[in-house]
Amino acid sequence: MKAVILAGGFATRLRPLSCSRPKTLFPIVNKPLLQWIFEGLTTNNVTEVVLAVNALTQFHIKQQKPAKCGLKIKYAIDPPKTPLGTAGPIKNTEKIVKYEEPFIVLNGDIFADIDYKQLMDAHVKTGALATIALHKVEDPSRYGVAELDKNNRIKNFIEKPTKEQAPTNFINAGIYILDPKIFDYIPKGKQCSIEREIFPTLAKEHKLFGHLIEGLWMDIGKPEEYLQANKIILDKIYEKNKSKLSKNIEAKKPVAIDKRVIIGKKTVIGPYAILGKNVVIGDNVQIYDSIVFSGAKIGDNTIIKGAIIGEDAVIGKNVQVNIGCIIADQAKIKDNLNLTKELSVCPAKEISETILKRNIIC
Ligand code: GDD
Ligand code: MG
Repeated sequence: MKAVILAGGFATRLRPLSCSRPKTLFPIVNKPLLQWIFEGLTTNNVTEVVLAVNALTQFHIKQQKPAKCGLKIKYAIDPPKTPLGTAGPIKNTEKIVKYEEPFIVLNGDIFADIDYKQLMDAHVKTGALATIALHKVEDPSRYGVAELDKNNRIKNFIEKPTKEQAPTNFINAGIYILDPKIFDYIPKGKQCSIEREIFPTLAKEHKLFGHLIEGLWMDIGKPEEYLQANKIILDKIYEKNKSKLSKNIEAKKPVAIDKRVIIGKKTVIGPYAILGKNVVIGDNVQIYDSIVFSGAKIGDNTIIKGAIIGEDAVIGKNVQVNIGCIIADQAKIKDNLNLTKELSVCPAKEISETILKRNIIC
């Protein structure tokens, strides 16, 4: 099987962390999301993947080099200054891959435990031109929503309806099986949305089907979703990795601590703390419900709760970083400061005074 991963969006809702990395490379328990996706695809017998991205995202992926897990990887690059949306990049893969059979398309910001083979079987059985994996949620308003008939044919597809307009709670999981005939529907070299332009047309032509997926599914598009996804995965994998934790670390489980992390005396890590590689933490520090990206340094007597600390950021001594704070890569927080809830600090920015009003500091 072949798969296309759409990963050329701008991740505005994850700023300022996404200023320096695309969404698909955000670490989920110390491993880039893209690598989790690759692993899921390999266990489902996918052998070839096309990354449909922009040039900057390609640059980041090539720099970070997530493990390819034995997959053959190709790139389809959006033209400069013309983001192709969510359908245009699929059309853009046509010249790169010879498609003879239905193929998988995935949004690159989804973490899901999915049986692609089952989805493919459902697709073949109905003879659909496109099959959308559907997931049931409480509030469908920030997703694409499908209305099905009794044979799982999608009668109606609406992208991001209001809560009142949404006909059902079955949302587009951002995972599709598409027949190569899809290429006849998408214009070449132009921005085109699969959700707003292609799916409604296919629904009218009775060629669009849905397949309900059970189990783990998460979109990491917003900071709180990203934190939550890490927590859930940490819980899931913690039991397996328990034994790896050094006895000298005072950890309230579950925690994940990557290679070459230094932790000072009387410091308590966790519960739900994820520390990337080369992180250095001083004495008497508390870190919980938080993610600390690789290379960050945290000074003595500091408390970090419910926050995300970017790569190589430096947090001084005696600092309080509160719930929902995002400290971007290489930002510097000086000693003896209190940062209020939901404060965002842009990359490389230096903060030298206490901030008690929610804000984005650039
Ligand atoms: N190459 C390329 N070019 N990729 C893009 C572009 C583009 O111009 N724009 C977006 N993408 C990629 C994003 O990187 C992401 O992986 C995927 O397309 C979906 O875009 P998002 O911006 O994340 O969309 P969304 O989360 O608001 O909504 C989508 O996902 C929901 C599930 O999480 C839609 O598909 C919804 O219908 C769906 O329910
Ligand atoms: Mg998304």
